[in-house]
Amino acid sequence: MMKGVHFPLSIVATLALATFLVSASDPSPLQDFCVAINNTESAVFVNGKFCKDPKLATANDFFFSGLRIPGNTSNPVGSFVTPANVEQIAGLNTLGISLARIDFAPNGLNPPHTHPRGTEFLIVLEGTLYVGFVTSNGDNNRLFTKVLNKGDVFVFPVGLIHFQLNVGHVNALAVAGLSSQNPGVITIAKAVFGSNPSINPDVLAKAFQVDDKEVEYLQKQFWYNNN
Ligand SMILES: *[C@@H]1O[C@H](CO)[C@@H](O)[C@H](O)[C@H]1NC(C)=O
Ligand SMILES: *[C@@H]1O[C@H](CO)[C@@H](O)[C@H](O)[C@H]1NC(C)=O
Repeated sequence: MMKGVHFPLSIVATLALATFLVSASDPSPLQDFCVAINNTESAVFVNGKFCKDPKLATANDFFFSGLRIPGNTSNPVGSFVTPANVEQIAGLNTLGISLARIDFAPNGLNPPHTHPRGTEFLIVLEGTLYVGFVTSNGDNNRLFTKVLNKGDVFVFPVGLIHFQLNVGHVNALAVAGLSSQNPGVITIAKAVFGSNPSINPDVLAKAFQVDDKEVEYLQKQFWYNNN
């Protein structure tokens, strides 16, 4: 019998944990693809979506023409996000990436928001954007900004609050790639002041160091979702 090399269990466990911790996007697929289907009959939930029988997959499962269409920017923020994630392209299930098209009117803003599950890589196709993100508390909430022109790219690390403002005199267009099939979006102003139901004003008055009246004013506003 061959003598095996035995690592202590604690080392194996530590390595396994380290491997888990450095996973930077959605879990790796265990097959070529897993085209998503809805399974409303099963009470079982999976992390992602159920797979279609691979033999029944077609090119259309991997296709989406929706990003051809400019978003309607006639809204309170002057921007519109058109997503291309697993909800629009079932073939993205388990593959760990998605896209979004972002249209901006002059002065249009994609308001401060975060993607809880995705790092974002943004490229400007038309116009000029002022973009930025804020680092976490442990890094003293530093603000990183840049003015981007056509062809320029910028990275917004996963989870960090970021924004894009059209500072040109014409419409702007950008495309964002995200490191998740379902990156999620939390728009800060709407999540805080437009939650359903409302957060108790005492909580927000203390958090924002203003009085209840100012909080109630903000809670009464209409918080438009541009995505
Ligand atoms: C799953 O169901 C939702 C809600 O009915 C629908 O919007 C979506 O397109 C469906 N996805 C697939 C892959 O069938
Ligand atoms: C864009 O949205 C505005 C406001 O809802 C609406 O009045 C207008 O008809 C829309 N434009 C198009 C091209 O859909």
